[in-house]
Amino acid sequence: MLTEGKVRIEFPEFQKITSKNKVFYNPEMRLDRDLSSLILSFYEGVVLDGLSATGIRGIRYVKESGLESIFNDINPEAVKLIAKNCKMNDMDCKIYNRDLNVLDVKADIVDIDPFGSPSRYLASGFRIIKSKGVLCVTATDTQALCVSKKACIRKYSAIPLKTDFFKELGIRILISSILREAMKQGYSIDVLLAYAHKHYMRVFLSVKKSLTGIEKNIKNLQIVYYCTCGYRTYSKDIMQTCPNCGKKINFSLPVWTGKIKNDNFLDNAMKKEMNSDLEKILNAIKKEIIVPFYYDVHKLAKTYKFDLKKIDLVLDELKRMGFQASRTHFSKTGIKTDADLLSLLKIFR
Ligand SMILES: C[S@@+](CC[C@H](N)C(=O)[O-])C[C@H]1O[C@@H](n2cnc3c(N)ncnc32)[C@H](O)[C@@H]1O
Ligand SMILES: [Zn+2]
Repeated sequence: MLTEGKVRIEFPEFQKITSKNKVFYNPEMRLDRDLSSLILSFYEGVVLDGLSATGIRGIRYVKESGLESIFNDINPEAVKLIAKNCKMNDMDCKIYNRDLNVLDVKADIVDIDPFGSPSRYLASGFRIIKSKGVLCVTATDTQALCVSKKACIRKYSAIPLKTDFFKELGIRILISSILREAMKQGYSIDVLLAYAHKHYMRVFLSVKKSLTGIEKNIKNLQIVYYCTCGYRTYSKDIMQTCPNCGKKINFSLPVWTGKIKNDNFLDNAMKKEMNSDLEKILNAIKKEIIVPFYYDVHKLAKTYKFDLKKIDLVLDELKRMGFQASRTHFSKTGIKTDADLLSLLKIFR
């Protein structure tokens, strides 16, 4: 038995967390469940906990977010446990024992929280969700999104790239793949929040049927260019060489270059009561400037043989020069800024 948020659930005890466990429960994802429960408390209607396992998410969405939950898991053992856990929390809910990809329901909110990649469930997410709904997606296959070219092409139909901002690039590739699925079914997306933590990435999108929305979204699908000299840019145009050092430039595509958070939404969310871990990460995200990607100061110092400088001093100096600048939750050694590489290097020099 365990207590998480306002609910108590039973889960099978095991030594190691793997997808082979009878019914899966991962304490490492607690922060995300806290956050998801907070975010969804701003919405109304029915939420589908599409890959429920113990049912912990859906149960918390009822007890904490004031939603109506429906549950689904392909594993019959999980379904038995969800029923038990619902009863223990005085809830009477609909529970399905189907492959999510053939589940025939409609919901205002859909939560897709799989082992590894969510890619095989995205089409179902949009088949099930209603217009003006909220889609929540987890990916734990961060290797595929950030590093492994073959796996990224196979699962996300995208080309990743080794950069000093690989985590943010990975999450933007994930969003681009969700958007491409959305567009096929007539939906446009608006990113409420996307973040990376520990071994996973998670995105919250508000989605609606809108052709004009899709047209706007398409403008934010671009090619990201990156050179080992630190130069980076994004564009719809084809580029062969690095404007900074003249070497052949590398690319990643298609990448979502639009916003990955909604500051108004975050402001409201942060007015609610929350634990200190959640407050810490939301504060860090809130302070980030909107500019895509970040520089890794260690990487820059190594490439250009500088002494390391205190990140806060570099940020102050960038702002004094009239640029936007902030840290990023993606990396302790990252700097987000709208300054060009040469201006940033000037500060280090
Ligand atoms: C990572 S666990 C879910 C964890 C849960 N959401 C939580 O927060 O604790 C993934 C679950 O998806 C179920 N699953 C795997 N493939 C499925 C499919 N095709 N359709 C429905 N459920 C599936 C597994 O049985 C497992 O319980
Ligand atoms: Zn270069």
